[in-house]
Amino acid sequence: MAHFASAYCNINTYPVTKNFFRITDSYSAISLNSALQTHRCPKKIFESCKLRQQKPSIFRATATPTSKEIEKNPLSGSFQGDPSSKSKKVMIIGGDGYCGWATALHLSNKGYEVAIVDNLVRRLFDHQLGLESLTPITSIQNRIQRWKSIAGRTIQLYIGDICDFEFLSEAFKSFDPESVVHFGEQRSAPFSMIDRSRAVYTQHNNVIGTLNVLFAIKEFSEECHLVKLGTMGEYGTPNIDIEEGYITITHNGRTDTLPYPKQASSFYHLSKVHDSHNIAFTCKAWGIRATDLNQGVVYGVRTDETEMHEELCNRFDYDGVFGTALNRFCVQAAVGHPLTVYGKGGQTRGYLDIRDTVQCVELAIANPAKPGEFRVFNQFTEQFSVNDLAKLVTNAGKKIGLDVQTISVPNPRVEAEEHYYNAKHTKLIELGLQPHLLSDSLLDSVLNFAIKFKDRVDAAQIMPTVSWKKIGAKPRTVSV
Ligand SMILES: NC(=O)c1ccc[n+]([C@@H]2O[C@H](COP(=O)([O-])OP(=O)(O)OC[C@H]3O[C@@H](n4cnc5c(N)ncnc54)[C@H](O)[C@@H]3O)[C@@H](O)[C@H]2O)c1
Repeated sequence: MAHFASAYCNINTYPVTKNFFRITDSYSAISLNSALQTHRCPKKIFESCKLRQQKPSIFRATATPTSKEIEKNPLSGSFQGDPSSKSKKVMIIGGDGYCGWATALHLSNKGYEVAIVDNLVRRLFDHQLGLESLTPITSIQNRIQRWKSIAGRTIQLYIGDICDFEFLSEAFKSFDPESVVHFGEQRSAPFSMIDRSRAVYTQHNNVIGTLNVLFAIKEFSEECHLVKLGTMGEYGTPNIDIEEGYITITHNGRTDTLPYPKQASSFYHLSKVHDSHNIAFTCKAWGIRATDLNQGVVYGVRTDETEMHEELCNRFDYDGVFGTALNRFCVQAAVGHPLTVYGKGGQTRGYLDIRDTVQCVELAIANPAKPGEFRVFNQFTEQFSVNDLAKLVTNAGKKIGLDVQTISVPNPRVEAEEHYYNAKHTKLIELGLQPHLLSDSLLDSVLNFAIKFKDRVDAAQIMPTVSWKKIGAKPRTVSV
């Protein structure tokens, strides 16, 4: 009964359910939410959920198409890998998300054996906040079936929450990964700054989820290489060059190489800092091998694989909560909304094309960290200020007849609007990364995409609605 009570008390504070109900897909999670609203009695809530709940934890889609099915499909020839020569097993946590889906397809296409682990909570956030991807995206089950029919490759699917260690253990034991790529976190800074419950949820989900992954590796797959998505935002904007993970300091005549100082600027970014510390500690203490990919802001929607069929299309967020700067500007330009520069617009960050995200992850997996090594790569290809991006989009818009205006809006974040920024990013290049530069892909991969789907844009989602300073303990709705 204590569990019922705690789930009941958290109706207003947790955007997703407690593990007790072991929600295993977005529909059951939504069912639980409506059950929570309909029934005031905890026992009834549980019974109502039980009725709708599928068997907990593991859903697997593993059937392989027949050779006839593959022959029939004209695109099946595009498969690039040789499954017999590469049997590497990669678990992709968060594989239904923006970076994860593109990466899952890319690695599968390269001959890796891929399993996606995801609790589909990102789809639930969209539902709760009234948001929708610019591009229509189909269910994860359809995506995987479509991929199988096109490429002849099977992607296994484990639906569940990595904060539930029992679920994660089963997935590890069943799939036995050689590498784990961990994208499975709440990844929006604004989301983490909506209200207390979202701040708590973000840190709980991200820090406990990652801790569980570390324990699962220790317990079931000691040799497994963890490739963890961090963010360049962990470093903040120091007035010195940003190194790749470590800095050598001489202090009072003594010298040491130490983790580069972190200055996170939201509860989300702070969760990533905590993750990095936990991973570094377990590398030292247990000999875990890990690569922390401090990723810049990702833009674009196309990869070679997602282009193969409309049902493989990736998500494209443009709203004020999940949309990232360049994607947002392109959508704004496409619908004739002025580009919304926050404050002075001198905020400078590292950026990369989604096609480079998938390349970087592949390079990290193919060149694993050594046992006990905590390796850090800064994963971006170019740096731009927000004003630079606005100019680039304005000029690209002109080329296709768009009259793009820019306005400065009050900055909802607490951040330096003019600052020094020079971040190193050589390690992935040394491993063979061949960047797609923004100048070549802006029109092709982002702006034209935004134009293609502009009728799906909800203008109400364009302006920022979450303020770093106004965050409070009271639950908040941001969509209306
Ligand atoms: N998109 C960017 O520009 C960007 C930039 C820097 C770093 N990153 C990092 O890359 C990773 C992926 O980002 P994204 O843009 O693809 O995010 P996303 O929200 O599109 O995808 C994250 C996925 O993880 C899943 N997930 C979240 N919590 C989970 C849990 N407890 N158990 C199982 N699944 C869970 C979600 O359902 C979702 O499918 C994140 O860690 C993010 O911090 C992204």
